[in-house]
Amino acid sequence: MLSAKRILLIIGGGIAAYKTLDLIRRLRERGASVTPVLTRAGAEFVTPLAVSALAGQKVFSDLFDLTDEAEMGHIQLSRSADLIVVAPATADLMAKMATGRADDLASTVLLATDTPVLIAPAMNVRMWEHPATQRNIAVLKGDGITFVGPNAGDMACGEHGPGRMAEVPEILSAIETALGDGPLKGQRVLVTSGPTHEPIDPVRYIANRSSGAQGTAIARALAALGAHVVFVTGPATVPPPDGVIVIRVETAQEMLDAVEATLPVDAAICAAAVADWRVSSASDHKIKKTKGGLPVLEFAENPDILATLSQKTTDRPRLVVGFAAETNDVIANATAKRARKGCDWIVANDVRPDTGIMGGSENAVTLITADGAEDWPRMGKDQVATQLAARIATALS
Ligand code: C5P
Repeated sequence: MLSAKRILLIIGGGIAAYKTLDLIRRLRERGASVTPVLTRAGAEFVTPLAVSALAGQKVFSDLFDLTDEAEMGHIQLSRSADLIVVAPATADLMAKMATGRADDLASTVLLATDTPVLIAPAMNVRMWEHPATQRNIAVLKGDGITFVGPNAGDMACGEHGPGRMAEVPEILSAIETALGDGPLKGQRVLVTSGPTHEPIDPVRYIANRSSGAQGTAIARALAALGAHVVFVTGPATVPPPDGVIVIRVETAQEMLDAVEATLPVDAAICAAAVADWRVSSASDHKIKKTKGGLPVLEFAENPDILATLSQKTTDRPRLVVGFAAETNDVIANATAKRARKGCDWIVANDVRPDTGIMGGSENAVTLITADGAEDWPRMGKDQVATQLAARIATALS
């Protein structure tokens, strides 16, 4: 149910705008109020009269409407909702959002808001697949915008592929999730994920095999429970989840800087495979092959992000969780690591190559807390994430 929830619905200019008329009805049936904003292009597809009749409210469309500005400025409009929904989100609207343009009421509201935003993209398949749109999608996801759809299928323009706006029931359930009062609502959680890359010279680096899969799954599971997740990721091979703030870094030092800038947080989950060492003698030009000589690399120890967070005297998160990838004596080593780093929990796993865990889709973990070691059965990384997120919610409550 969405009783008493306030939705600001921005209707963009695409043929899928007709679906938003039904969306308004279904939202109101569920007890939500809908304040409609219709773009100029949107008004080519649905009439202000139909939108306003279904919403039971006036339609806002003009940035420079003096009556609106006197009664309710665009800034206030942007803040007076629990959720902003953009449907259909056209390629143009998404480009404006990604670049921070504010040249009409819809884009100004989207730039001025501090309310969560859910968008339902709809456009021609080629426009969706265009590198410019794909760049904008990445930017918007990084800004914490949540997406529903688009779906693949036949399109009004006669082509086939991804670009159809999500159906009304899908948009409704995405709205319900976005507004969900999960157990982590109001909690700020930091997740580090992925490997780090430590440069040797401008073209070479030292890396590790972490895919970022487990950290990504944990961030997604925490967000699904309503947490405000800041996801600090090294160059991972899996894409970051939707609905979280994404901060991309390369090196351990950059990761630490990003983590420090994110504090205070209620909990920190350090799932990144941070390189223990960096090349202190990294060259600012490509190291050339020289006859008869091999380059000598000197190393320096990287900052330990988990230990730094755990041992903070101010702004220490209430719960700090680390990971221990071990190849032998998993419980003994992980228990010692928990004490050495000063974190609250360690999620330990056996990463011997024959387990297929590093870079694979499954994990078999042991959770080590102040109360001892708890073996979890082997399960998908998504399930480990869901179970861990539930435990975190209990610990923070
Ligand atoms: O010491 P080790 O690398 O085995 O510890 C693993 C745990 O410590 C992981 O949670 C990892 O994210 C974290 N870590 C860190 N910074 C480092 C090294 C490890 O946060 N420099």
